[in-house]
Amino acid sequence: MASYVAAIDQGTTSTRCMIFDHSGRVVSVDQKEHRQIFPQAGWVEHDPEEIWNNTRQVCAGALAKADLVSSEIAACGITNQRETTVVWEKATGKPVYNAIVWQDTRTDEIVSELAQNGGQSRFQAKTGLPLATYFSGPKIKWMLDNVEGLRKRADNGELLFGNMDTWVLWNSTGGTDGGVHVTDPTNASRTMLMDLETLQWDPEICAEMGIPMSMLPEIRSSSEEYGKFRARGVFAGIPITGILGDQQAATFGQACLTPGEAKNTYGTGNFVLLNTGTERVISENGLLTTVGYKIGNNDTIYCLEGSIAVTGSLVQWLRDNLGILDSAPEVEEVARTVEDNGGAYFVPAFSGLFAPHWRSDARGAIVGLTRFINRGHLARAVLEATAFQTREVIEAMNADSGVPLKALKVDGGMVVNELLMQFQADILDVPVIRPMINETTALGAAYAAGLAVGFWASEDDIRNNWAQDKQWDPTMSEEERERQYKQWQKAVTKTFDWVE
Ligand code: G3P
Repeated sequence: MASYVAAIDQGTTSTRCMIFDHSGRVVSVDQKEHRQIFPQAGWVEHDPEEIWNNTRQVCAGALAKADLVSSEIAACGITNQRETTVVWEKATGKPVYNAIVWQDTRTDEIVSELAQNGGQSRFQAKTGLPLATYFSGPKIKWMLDNVEGLRKRADNGELLFGNMDTWVLWNSTGGTDGGVHVTDPTNASRTMLMDLETLQWDPEICAEMGIPMSMLPEIRSSSEEYGKFRARGVFAGIPITGILGDQQAATFGQACLTPGEAKNTYGTGNFVLLNTGTERVISENGLLTTVGYKIGNNDTIYCLEGSIAVTGSLVQWLRDNLGILDSAPEVEEVARTVEDNGGAYFVPAFSGLFAPHWRSDARGAIVGLTRFINRGHLARAVLEATAFQTREVIEAMNADSGVPLKALKVDGGMVVNELLMQFQADILDVPVIRPMINETTALGAAYAAGLAVGFWASEDDIRNNWAQDKQWDPTMSEEERERQYKQWQKAVTKTFDWVE
């Protein structure tokens, strides 16, 4: 009897495999980091083969740690960093180029050219997305335009495209030996090539970007059987029955299943998603419209999303590039050595600015520096940047939906940081709530997979498994909150027009 469900979480900095029991409890986890490749300023790449190797290792690792065998796993779900673009040869399974990561800004010119005819919101009604370097379509175009011989091979039908979900699925299900070339609507909705209403690739946009549709995976629901792990190898024979982009998976795992419910995940970046039910709300305030989930034949559920490119990765930058922290968690201790930010504000526009600004011409800035500022103030400014950026997207959400958010469910690595969580509640002026099971991303993918095989009966099981761990209530005065937010907004404007 299979008593567990597994999930592969292929994220921006690492790949993890987690095994859950029926109550949503984590039974085991294995994780492996992969290289971040920065060939030049603004470029970020991953090695897809390294990621696939890591995926196999962490699956084997999670199984071994729990002392389980494949037949005890009812199903496996896949969740992934979204937008990151892989193109590979159908015949050999070899990637033709490194994966271009979602944070990469090399498509800036392509995006500006596309915007010349119809502006930045040219494809927004159909895809829910403004033209920006973030999405996969322009990244595919960049590869076809810049890697020698690629366009011809794409036109000949020799190449396949996938985001990380598709790359992992294709390899897991056999690769060159019958690998399944499929994605789900949550991932497809981040390519800028999918029609949000029909959940199909849009031939006009594909033609406009010069992307042969033969490269694109088939779009299936987020919860159904796509295939099984290949007979020889790790997880042999386990059905793969769920795919959700990582932020949508966290939304699902946080049980934001009713319109009006929202979560904020604090990872490399921050991503706030608000469930808008079956309605596709097109943002007038710089948010994305995205597919939230589609469970089997049920109606498609949509979300409004505020995507923030740099939050947790700013702490890593402080550690790795400036060397002023020994470890990422140390940031809290260092920030607590001072009372406040001392007047310093850090706007981490490393990939331009995402929501709600969508300015690829922006670059990072620290403003308000005086001789008084020390390492503690900088650590504080780094943490506060996450909270201020979150407020910007929540304000946009309130404006788009007309209903102010009453509380914010949070998850992800940084939510153990008490100082940040309290400051977040203060700056938003709403309670911030952390669930008992903080591993909501992998859990969401496990839920999608488990629902498809009847391991969980319905979404009610997900609601019942959710429980609150801790809540932070706002304590800051209104005057102080607005003073600080105004300073932040001023700081943001200093980052604009930096790249010509
Ligand atoms: O859109 C990018 C997002 O999916 C990346 O998430 O958690 O890997 O930083 P994460």
